[in-house]
Amino acid sequence: MCGIIGAIHMKGNIASLLRQSLKRLEYRGYDSSGIATASEGILFIKKDKGKIDEIHHRLNFDNLPGSIGIGHTRWATHGPPSKVNAHPHTDCQNRIAVVHNGIIENYQELREQLLLNGHQFRSQTDTEVIPHMIEEALNKTKRLDKAVAQIIPQLEGSYAIVVLEANGKELVCARKESPLVVGLGPRGVYCASDVPAFLPMTRKAIIIEDNELVHLTSKSANVSRFDESGSLIKLPSRAPSVVDWTIDMAQKGGYPHFMLKEIHEQPRALSDTLRIRKDDLEAFAGILHNHKNVITIAAGTSFHATLAAKYMFSHIANHLMHGVIASEGSDTVAKSLGADTAVLAVTQSGETIDTLHAVKHLKNQGATVLAITNTVGSSITRLADSVLYTQAGPEIGVAATKTFATQLATLALLAISLGTMTGVQTKKESQDLLGALNQYPDLIQSVIRNKERMIKETAQEYITKSSFFFLGRGISTSTAMEGALKIKEIAYVHAEGYPAGESKHGPIALVEPGFPVVFVAPNDKTRRHLEGNVMEMKARGAQIISICSNQDQELINLSDHAITLPALPSLFFSPISYAVPLQLLAYYAAILRGHNPDQPRNLAKAVTVL
Ligand code: F6R
Repeated sequence: MCGIIGAIHMKGNIASLLRQSLKRLEYRGYDSSGIATASEGILFIKKDKGKIDEIHHRLNFDNLPGSIGIGHTRWATHGPPSKVNAHPHTDCQNRIAVVHNGIIENYQELREQLLLNGHQFRSQTDTEVIPHMIEEALNKTKRLDKAVAQIIPQLEGSYAIVVLEANGKELVCARKESPLVVGLGPRGVYCASDVPAFLPMTRKAIIIEDNELVHLTSKSANVSRFDESGSLIKLPSRAPSVVDWTIDMAQKGGYPHFMLKEIHEQPRALSDTLRIRKDDLEAFAGILHNHKNVITIAAGTSFHATLAAKYMFSHIANHLMHGVIASEGSDTVAKSLGADTAVLAVTQSGETIDTLHAVKHLKNQGATVLAITNTVGSSITRLADSVLYTQAGPEIGVAATKTFATQLATLALLAISLGTMTGVQTKKESQDLLGALNQYPDLIQSVIRNKERMIKETAQEYITKSSFFFLGRGISTSTAMEGALKIKEIAYVHAEGYPAGESKHGPIALVEPGFPVVFVAPNDKTRRHLEGNVMEMKARGAQIISICSNQDQELINLSDHAITLPALPSLFFSPISYAVPLQLLAYYAAILRGHNPDQPRNLAKAVTVL
């Protein structure tokens, strides 16, 4: 995935603003970046491989002239990270510059045709075909918006693009399956992959839908729909919505990393999410209730949230959900499900391509689509029949933390709503469950306040270890898997998250003296059985790190390190609080190994390629 931005001001140079906007989009990709501006009929471009600050240090983006420009921060797909492959890309005459997020699947055929027509290519990217195609179209129509509309039907795949012409009067942006928002500010107009890009300039945003094109000047943003024939149908002007994210929410707020800030934000994110309207939950629960099959589709951390949800729904609502991992979604389901199925997609970004594909597959077979997402206007919201929004605010750190907590909270609310609706829970029982859930923000607050230093010290103790197991039983299997994912992705430490009962069927063969095993051990009904697994590991010399109740003296005594938590108000929701020490452990494991947890290598915040 990549980040794109376009901006036009009435006056003054735009380059520094574009650079700062790109910084706020860097979570979308950071292997190369570039900016193009236009002034006095000439395009000016600076781009290179590397992070924005490094490139700026070398090239000084800020002295690019002109009050109009575009920018890009890249996560490479076609062509390795390099100066030539960095965006913006231009046509043969250097009159048209394009930034693109997405993939043009048929770029090889398009490129061959353009080569035959005499165009010269400089990069290995799929994107470069676009400026050359616009160059040809502009020979037939003099209007940039019409030229873009004419070439778009030939592009197969997904894209959000912004196009700048050397005349420097206008920008044109368009989207299909990749996010695009327009911002309307007092000094000018912006378009970007995501709202934080222009948040310091304006909170007024228009969400752009698939197959829409926007013509931007310094005072206006006119939205049209494009069709297969390349014509533009002007749409009535759309009132912007006012985004309630503050600039501070999108910036680090004094923390060294977004990840740490977002871990600390969890009590607030959770409280906000727990305010989801009862009616909305009941409408969702009603749909689940009215379908014979309910399957969840999700990837990565969101998948772990659905794994926990499976336990919550079984225990609270006597309802078995089938959890399917997104990348295997359509293959797993094949043609086995139809209109009697509700699919519940969980995705913080709303843009994970595997999730979107699996959901589309099910939708085509007649399934009803429900979505839980953190991102208003994201692609999943357009696919879904009904949406519930988590209220985590923007999550910039690549590793999901606060969005995991808010997904769990939303799923817990839904399980309670369904359990109440079907009579599995009495009114009093469901009120008790809700009361317990509402104690989690304070609980997490106390875990962060009282345990962070000790967790950092624990991370230091295990600094030389290159491999970990994370084990749990029942709902804690999902917490264990999430803990392993976190440390793997940001500290580059090998880790496996496993159901503790399964550890005898393979993992235990690797255990030798000093091997660290993390047990996720809330005091629920799996606790007794878990002790057997602890003993098995201890007998082979493993070092035991327990995440357990502060009242569980037995396990504390068995452990080399115990990170203890206060007693839980309800054991059905334990991953919400038990994941927090594991997030902090991973964070400090990364920091102490000298890695930047906000930008782990080879990873992107939203995975928009299959
Ligand atoms: C892990 C992480 C990823 C995402 C996964 C799904 O920390 O962030 O594994 O959970 O890419 O993303 P969404 O939830 O946006 O679909």
